[in-house]
Amino acid sequence: MNNPFKNGRVYCGALREEHIGQRVTVCGWVARARDIGGLIFVDMRDRMGIAQCVFDQTENGELFDKARALRSEYTVAITGTVRMRSSINDKIPTGHVEILAEEVNIYSPAETTPFEILDDVNVNDALRLKYRYLDLRRPSLQNALALRHRMTQITRNYFDEQGFLEIETPILTKSTPEGARDYLVPSRVHPGEFYALPQSPQQYKQLLMLAGYDRYIQIARCFRDEDLRYDRQPEFTQIDLEMSFVDIDDVIAVNEGYLQRLFKEVKGIDLELPLQRMSYKEAMSRYGSDKPDLRFGMELNDITEIAKDCGFSVFEAAAAAGGIVTGICAKGAGDKLSRKEIDALGEYVKTYKAKGLAWIKLTSKGEMSSSFAKFLSEEKLAAIKAALGAENGDLILCVADGDVELAQNALGSLRCHVAKKLDMIPANTFKPLWIVEFPLFEYGEDDEGNGRLYAKHHPFTAPMDEDVELFATRPQDMRAKAYDIVMNGTELGGGSIRIHNSDIQQKMFNALGFTNEETEERFGHMLNAFKYGAPPHGGLAYGLDRLVMWMAGTENIRDVIAFPKVQNASDLMMDCPSPVEDKQLRELSIALDVKTKE
Ligand code: AMO
Ligand code: AMP
Repeated sequence: MNNPFKNGRVYCGALREEHIGQRVTVCGWVARARDIGGLIFVDMRDRMGIAQCVFDQTENGELFDKARALRSEYTVAITGTVRMRSSINDKIPTGHVEILAEEVNIYSPAETTPFEILDDVNVNDALRLKYRYLDLRRPSLQNALALRHRMTQITRNYFDEQGFLEIETPILTKSTPEGARDYLVPSRVHPGEFYALPQSPQQYKQLLMLAGYDRYIQIARCFRDEDLRYDRQPEFTQIDLEMSFVDIDDVIAVNEGYLQRLFKEVKGIDLELPLQRMSYKEAMSRYGSDKPDLRFGMELNDITEIAKDCGFSVFEAAAAAGGIVTGICAKGAGDKLSRKEIDALGEYVKTYKAKGLAWIKLTSKGEMSSSFAKFLSEEKLAAIKAALGAENGDLILCVADGDVELAQNALGSLRCHVAKKLDMIPANTFKPLWIVEFPLFEYGEDDEGNGRLYAKHHPFTAPMDEDVELFATRPQDMRAKAYDIVMNGTELGGGSIRIHNSDIQQKMFNALGFTNEETEERFGHMLNAFKYGAPPHGGLAYGLDRLVMWMAGTENIRDVIAFPKVQNASDLMMDCPSPVEDKQLRELSIALDVKTKE
């Protein structure tokens, strides 16, 4: 960045040898002041870094006395002449130079902060978030937010070059249950009626396609009232885009160009294109996940054929029920993990609804222990070991279940858990890929506990052309023209080609079990719009926060959001949500019926 200042000011972090001999001013916060008798060293901090300033009693006694007042986090400007340091600090970019102070201007003193403003200081998260404005002074957060800015710039530039228009869509919009829970906003002028905050601009961007804005992008704020996790916030940002007159390959090509640019400019990494594509089915069977982490092996293997008559009733029952016995081989883990640790893995898979974990522990000394080997013949045991490529020193872990996806998902989660535990995941490795051919529907229960089909992505997602005829016979087997961009075990983004044909849209709503009235009430505005000429279209949305997390190398989404919420969706700094005055509620025709507040 060029120096944006015209008045002799420089950013602390930008001070370099080229400034030697110049009179400069730095403005910022005192990171540290040390009086070593005759000399006071003041480290000045701004968002670009740290600069060392020196007050020399022999040079200017009056100024020196003024500098004695400086304490951590005082906000000040220091003017002086830049010179070479007598002792060089190679750890920071400004470490070769210092400012010999000639003036100091104290803008404001500071009380002792509740925690030290340092990256590696050990403070609990709640305190950090309550004083987020102090937390944000930490270099790692300042770097993360600067990176986020740069990534949105790259994004805007790339899509602008590709002919996309940035168009804003409303924040006050219509509630369409399906998907996550909505955040609602009561209307004052329409008593008893509510807006919903958008979970995504999905419907608006499709309507923009019908209106002829054939390449749309928006850096869009989205709101979802769902349980928070390390990579989820109730409000988050999408890089949202949509294109007309396209099919899957067109959308993927534009986005691969984008990802290539992003990785090159941010990480200096050359992404090789095209990216790998893997069907949902293959991802589930090989990795037990629709967002497989390809940074390490330990793939799942279907051993149902061997296990269906192996003598172990758990395996046989799963096979007989049309299910699966699937296993992984953790290399070296037979030596490394104790019996107790293996039992803990058993508890782990139960949190993914598996009924148990069958294991064989082989040590490099040739010993074997197992939870189920006693039921098996020598041949069956050898066949299972061979199928999983297990050798002495390895640990075999198997899950059997009548529900194939349940078993795969549980073992797939265990695969990642074990890889982390055994430190099998290489650092600084990025393995993006597309997951394609998702199921169009998933089976679930409605509010009354009756089984029904739900749209796996959303009800506007188009089925694959070759599967359209299955609407009448086997909708559960239909595949969607949907795609997710996945990297290192996280879903970075997802999208689909949309239905633009009203006949197919009607079949979709029928399959979802909506009555005509329900369809009309929820989606009438969309269906109407489609009557007046609709181009084939499709798009995708990235979670910007998640992209920045990966690029910044952090494991918590809060590290890339200036003012994040905590687990229970509250903002500890603003102290919200918070009660409002009765008068406000009356204006909104709202009467409260609050039973408990945690
Ligand atoms: P989807 O619901 O898959 O698709 O969301 C797209 C991406 O948004 C990110 N994301 C989140 N990030 C942080 N916190 C959350 N709570 C959160 N929820 C989602 C994820 C996800 O991949 N309209 C469709 C896209 C389309 O079809 O074009 C949509 O919203 O990275
Ligand atoms: P049991 O005969 O019930 O003692 O089970 C023997 C072993 O099989 C134990 O280690 C269980 O954890 C394991 N087990 C039970 N159910 C399953 C399952 N569905 N898949 C894999 N292993 C299982």
